[in-house]
Amino acid sequence: MAQQFEDKFQRKFYYLRLSITDVCNFKCTYCLPDGYKPSGQKNSSFLSLPEIKRVVTAFADCGTSKVRITGGEPSLRRDFTQIIETVAQTKGIKKVATTTNGYRMAKQVDAWQNAGLTNINVSIDSLDPRMFHQITGENKFTEVMAGIDRAFEVGYEQIKVNVVLMKDLNHNQLPAFLNWIKDRPIQLRFIELMQTGEMDELFQRHHVSGVAIRNQLIANGWILKVRAANDGPAQVFVHPDYQGEIGLIMPYEKDFCQSCNRLRVSAVGKLHLCLFGEQGVELRDLLQQDEQESQLIERIQTQLENKSISHFLHDGNSGMTPHLASIGG
Ligand code: 5AD
Ligand code: SF4
Repeated sequence: MAQQFEDKFQRKFYYLRLSITDVCNFKCTYCLPDGYKPSGQKNSSFLSLPEIKRVVTAFADCGTSKVRITGGEPSLRRDFTQIIETVAQTKGIKKVATTTNGYRMAKQVDAWQNAGLTNINVSIDSLDPRMFHQITGENKFTEVMAGIDRAFEVGYEQIKVNVVLMKDLNHNQLPAFLNWIKDRPIQLRFIELMQTGEMDELFQRHHVSGVAIRNQLIANGWILKVRAANDGPAQVFVHPDYQGEIGLIMPYEKDFCQSCNRLRVSAVGKLHLCLFGEQGVELRDLLQQDEQESQLIERIQTQLENKSISHFLHDGNSGMTPHLASIGG
């Protein structure tokens, strides 16, 4: 192995989030309220299969063992299954995950699993179909739920479900969510709404801290699970009467960034050191031939020295990120 990717705060990076497309067919109010709009930039085609292979190989050779394939909506790429397979077959990669809006899951999860997909996160912001429609702009609640059933049928042992917490929309639906996971091995994760560049009043209107949910869980006998060394930033709660778990992702809480173990590569091949960072560092010129691997690794390693200790969200500074579809959340 080449040198393990690590920054000057001794954070080690085992986990790559690789976006494969900016395109999405949903219009989540907190992400793409007006739907996807092409950037109009020249040369903005998304990474090809060989480019994906090269970037994942370089990361794997420097200690990355988990890759999450993100978007936009990754399953909109026709070669999505091949991409899963390519990542899964890269030496050193043990976990291949994806984050999807779930609309193609019922039809395709079988093929994804055969290709080597080990973990699935799907977004469901409400269990009320009408509110789901209101938040995502798509009336696809039934399809997404069928996708989850299908994933269990084909043998996934746990599915993670993301819920973006929004005041006056879903923040008081905890009982319905708890009821849903009572007998289902779902890790339901409440994610605090994060402010991004293109968001104006939405954040002021709907941001709510996860603390109230945490207090309700603790009052009802939920217990915080001990973190393992490579765990991400979610605080996970368990309860003896529930098969499911609850995760809380609270990026506005102190020390959130301490457990950062991930790096991001955008769909056009830019390295992002933080979700709320800078414009990204071009890698694509070094993804053209297998022989460029050592140069690629060197560029990433140099950039890692610049990774900041934390994001600057507390100062209302969300960096250059217009919305999370642009670098895959
Ligand atoms: N705040 C919090 N989470 C967001 N996501 C997208 N945009 C935001 C935002 N502004 C998350 C959603 C979705 C995943 C792809 O990214 O949870 O599940
Ligand atoms: Fe699409 Fe995900 Fe953004 Fe919703 S949050 S618009 S599903 S990329």
